[in-house]
Formats: sequence, structure tokens, C-alpha cells
Amino acid sequence: MYKILVRPILFLFSPEIIHHLVFIGFRIGAIIPGLSKLINNYKPKTDTSVNFLGLKLKSPVGLAAGLDKEAEAIDMLGYLGFGFVEIGTVTPKPQPGNPKPRMFRLKKNSALINRMGFNNSGVFNIIKNLKSRKTDVIVGGNIGKNKITPNAEAVNDYLIGFEELYPYVDYFVVNVSSPNTPNLRQLQDKEPLTELLQKLMDLNNSKPSVKPLLLKIAPDLTNEQIDDIIDIVSETKISGLVATNTTISREGLDYSEEHIAKIGAGGLSGAPLKKRSTDIIRYISEKTNNQIPIIGSGGIMTVEDAMEKIDAGARVVQLFTGFIYEGPSLIKKINNEFVKRR
Ligand code: FNR
Repeated sequence: MYKILVRPILFLFSPEIIHHLVFIGFRIGAIIPGLSKLINNYKPKTDTSVNFLGLKLKSPVGLAAGLDKEAEAIDMLGYLGFGFVEIGTVTPKPQPGNPKPRMFRLKKNSALINRMGFNNSGVFNIIKNLKSRKTDVIVGGNIGKNKITPNAEAVNDYLIGFEELYPYVDYFVVNVSSPNTPNLRQLQDKEPLTELLQKLMDLNNSKPSVKPLLLKIAPDLTNEQIDDIIDIVSETKISGLVATNTTISREGLDYSEEHIAKIGAGGLSGAPLKKRSTDIIRYISEKTNNQIPIIGSGGIMTVEDAMEKIDAGARVVQLFTGFIYEGPSLIKKINNEFVKRR
């Protein structure tokens, strides 16, 4: 129904306008008595829960960061079948992000290009939304730095994000892999990354209970860089990785070079990203004998894509672009397949 009836209407609007309208709908839907129960029926009736990093996820399918940046629709997203919702990327101060347009559909390839640039209302505002959630869906806090913060001071931004979100989220993701904040990805280099993660883990260890902290990596890393990251994971004892973020590659697109050039800079997500992110998951799993817990993200558009990520070594998966193109039935289908495989 989504692809035949709903999507054609949604896709008449620009991606950002429709995102805005859908979220208004989610907020209204959450307060209409009985509607949440009705939507809840959408979920599989069988138990799809999994344990991941000591967290009890109601389903192994999560929502990737960037869709509910402001934690506005966590309950509704849970009713749709997501077992965990990653909010953010959250920065300490509010920031507008890049000028619009900054999100583009590539329908022929079931893909998106975005250069949002961490638009968000800042951690202190986002906490207000987190306080008003009503269900126990597992929430991840994806943290980043403000655009105006130089890389040399980036650690402070991440520490603020961690400290402020700590009471309200269940796990953390450190985002140094977005292509849309200038020079951010330089923080993936061995020295600054080790320092960043060590300081975050020191803060984490000072808390009454340590929360899972994962690193989200780019699909554009070389094998040498991935090897460094594997070392850093064991050195800093972070809990795991989210593999992967969007890519700066434009390979495999069925559009003219002019069209792609006109869209401009940004991260590519959806079907064209699938293989690269799965290859990275497989590389890390094989190198570490499956010792690093991985959330698989990147181009999951079908049940088979999700299972490929699991077979490659991911423990659970996240969707973004697949949810936009395929709708909520994709969550249900993946959940059902997980249950079948048990
Ligand atoms: C993203 N993604 C993202 N990731 C992140 O860590 N912080 C963010 O703020 C965002 N923002 C964002 C906005 C938009 C419009 C898109 C399409 C994506 C990346 C996202 O979480 C995911 O890792 C990738 O999109 C790959 O998964 P899919 O989309 O191929 O399923």
C-alpha cells in the first residue's frame, strides 16, 4: 500500500517539506486516542526482541540517525516496529545546517544525496523532547560537534553531548563520519580519534553505570584506516561500531554526470551504498573473528539486504533510505525474517 498509494503522494513534495509534514503527522497521531494502538498492530505479533550490548531491543531493526534528529517521534517510530531509534546528530549549540535545498532523491537508484550539515536545535532543546517520550523504545544519542567548533576543540563538544544526553538515552554513537561538516572526517585519524574516544570513555566510566558507546564510520575508509579503527576499538574499549554512514562516492548511479554535478556535494545513501557498507562489515568481522559488535547500516532496501548485513557480521541493522522508499512494511518483513531464522 505504501509504495502504490502513499509514496507517490509523498514524493510530489520536496524531501524536506515532506519530512516536516510527516513529523507533524506523527506528533498529531501520537495524541489521537487509540491511533497508536492501531499502528501498533502493524508490528509482528511474535516476540522479535534481541539483546544487544546489554540492551533489550524490541526488534533488531532500528532507525538510523538523521531522520528523527530532534527526538520528536520516538514513540510513533516504536509503534511502527523499530526496536531502537537513534536521534541526532545532536550538537551542543543549535545550528541551522547548510542552505536549502540540501536533500535530493535519486529515484532511479532508490537513493538520496544529502548535505544537511547537522541542522538541529541543540542538545538542551532536544532533551525536552526526550523527557516527554512515553514508551520504552531503546534510544541512541548520536553526538557530533558544531560547525563553528574547530577540530582542535571538538572533544569538548562531544563531551557536552555525552554529559547532557546521558540521563535520557540508552546508548551513544560518536559521529565523526558525516561528509557534511567541513573537516569532521579528519577526526577519524588515529591520534585524534583515540583521544576523543578515550576521553568519552573516561567520562562514561565515571558514571554510576557505563552506557554502550559506539563509533559510526564512513564507507570511504581505506583498509589501513579500518585496521587503525579496529586497534582503537580494542584500545579504548568502546562497545562497537555503526557501519556505515553515507558515502562521498557517486559510483553506480543511472544519472548523467551533469545531473549529479548539479546536485553537488553530500553523502549518498540507499541502494548504491549497500555493497560497500556490507564489505566493510565483513572485513571487520573477519579480521576480528566477529569480536566487535556492529550495527549494520547502508542501503538496506529489502529483507535480503538486511540478512546480507547479518551474514556479513552485523548483529542488528538500521534503516534510513529504505524506510523512505519502502515504507514501514520493510521493518515488519525484516522482523519476520529474523524470527524465522531463530
Ligand atoms: C543521514 N545520516 C546521518 N547519520 C548520522 O550519523 N548523523 C546524521 O545527522 C545523519 N543525517 C542524515 C540525513 C539524511 C537525509 C540521510 C539520508 C542520512 C546517515 C544515516 O544515518 C545512515 O547511516 C545512512 O543514510 C546509510 O543508511 P541508508 O540510508 O542507506 O539506510
